[in-house]
Amino acid sequence: MSFVEIKELSKTFGCSAALSNISAQMHKGQIVGVIGPDGAGKTTLLRLMAGLLAPSSGHIEINGLDTLGQSEEVHEISGYMPQRFGLYEDLTVMENLELYAELRGAPKTFDKLLQFTNLQPFTKRLAKHLSGGMKQKLGLACALLKKPQLLLLDEPSVGVDPISRRELWALVNTLLDDTISIVWSTSYLDEAEKCQTVLLLNEGKALFYGNPSDLTNKMVGRVFKIEKPENKRARLFSLFKDESVLDAVIQGADIRVIMQKNSMLPDAVETAPRFEDAFIDILGGSPMRVSPLSAAMPKMENPNPYPVVADHLTKRFDQFTAADQVTFKVQRGEIFGFLGPNGAGKSTTFKMLCGLLKPTEGKALIGGVDLQKAPKEARSHLGYMAQKFSLYGDLTPRQNLEFFAGVYGAKKETVEQMAKIFAFTPYLDKTSGMLPLGLKQRLSFAAAMMHWPSVLFLDEPTSGMDPVSRREFWMHANGLADHGCTIMVSTHFMDEAEYCDRIALIYQGKIIHLDTPDALKEAAKSEEVPNPTLEDAFVKMIEAYAAH
Ligand SMILES: Nc1ncnc2c1ncn2[C@@H]1O[C@H](COP(=O)(O)OP(=O)(O)OP(=O)(O)O)[C@@H](O)[C@H]1O
Ligand SMILES: [Mg+2]
Repeated sequence: MSFVEIKELSKTFGCSAALSNISAQMHKGQIVGVIGPDGAGKTTLLRLMAGLLAPSSGHIEINGLDTLGQSEEVHEISGYMPQRFGLYEDLTVMENLELYAELRGAPKTFDKLLQFTNLQPFTKRLAKHLSGGMKQKLGLACALLKKPQLLLLDEPSVGVDPISRRELWALVNTLLDDTISIVWSTSYLDEAEKCQTVLLLNEGKALFYGNPSDLTNKMVGRVFKIEKPENKRARLFSLFKDESVLDAVIQGADIRVIMQKNSMLPDAVETAPRFEDAFIDILGGSPMRVSPLSAAMPKMENPNPYPVVADHLTKRFDQFTAADQVTFKVQRGEIFGFLGPNGAGKSTTFKMLCGLLKPTEGKALIGGVDLQKAPKEARSHLGYMAQKFSLYGDLTPRQNLEFFAGVYGAKKETVEQMAKIFAFTPYLDKTSGMLPLGLKQRLSFAAAMMHWPSVLFLDEPTSGMDPVSRREFWMHANGLADHGCTIMVSTHFMDEAEYCDRIALIYQGKIIHLDTPDALKEAAKSEEVPNPTLEDAFVKMIEAYAAH
């Protein structure tokens, strides 16, 4: 008998179906990856499995226990990490662990967990002062306090850096034996690829349940690479005009293209498919083929060749240096990626570049204007999307955007225009805080664009977003860059890092490498790893720096 038995499960909220007719069996010793775009029903499924929601029809049995009638017994044998884990912001890391251990009746031995999450040096830091990724790791540590038979992890790796994600996988794999079954929802498709079994949900329906490689293999013969095209963004836009192209993304100096069945591209070479190609294919291809945002953007005036200059930017919090002599220049029309492990100093640097945090030393120039000397003028050139949703949650999107229009002297009509461009007109008068993540991100992007800035700072704009929504986002970013906008963006998605023209790698507050994605990969080549991915390069460079 299987450990988890899901039978004809449906769940409706009001008149909308969150899940319809899902059946699946899961076994101990197995990791099941749950994937799918926003609103697919991933969180609903995990909550139903945790016995926190009642099915509308059908049922779930965990070890023969019904999640509805025997929810207490189900809670006893399961561990659940919700998507938004509730840490106590005013308690320290250690106090949070102690409190959760108390609540769950778990032993108060945290050494292994602290070591694994690299939180050991920060046990006395208040949760509210942790970086985004560090908070996520603390949440995970809390969920692992007591070893469960069924571990339900709802997007545990959102905002977690590649090194820690590898560690997280390794840890989850060490937990995995014949006493436990793990269900893991994720928007990182490289993670899904590593699961023995994936459940692909879309709009509440199961599109696929099985081994991910079975789906990937169906794409053989349909994935191509255009090597080093002259102007990669112009080529990308022209590819999207071709009906036989299902999807195209930039990969370093190349373009990766998925073709419709039985179609060819003359100047492209066939390449091995990956799971993401199959995922995009099953969901019908790229959701957006031209950016209405860049099409609407007025002509830009700021001709400065280096619209962003960071000159020895340094930020110290007491004895701790969060950013250390950070120095770089970003060219006009460039997409500049900012990568680094959790707590490396990315958000701190962004805040200094936006004039939200006063540098301890150094200066920032935006469009040639010194942020400290002429903050108002410098800020009029820039738009900023914070890592966390930072608009007013209790105002409507309309009120939020009108507020931004007022602050930046933007036209009021821009509110309706942005709502149309980002497809949230039906939500304009709802409560912003209640919107699903994907919509919130679109709203934040719209708010940052209200005054049509020539420089954009995007701090993990796609964190937690599914691959389909992320494509939409990047269609806008590519369009804006092509229009002459200068974009600085941070991300923990390595596929997105390859969309950037250049990448700065920051670690412990210092920039340790700055180059094109291809050059970084080239530099990481070795006998053991002759064809490193960008993630391999990232891990190698950080580890090499840490070792010396
Ligand atoms: N107000 C503060 N007081 C004390 N320490 C702080 C404060 N703000 C940030 N830090 C620390 O500065 C370091 C850098 O944080 P930052 O948020 O810039 O990291 P990050 O690179 O953006 O990480 P992530 O990828 O997790 O978002 C972290 O160790 C963080 O805990
Ligand atoms: Mg950050």
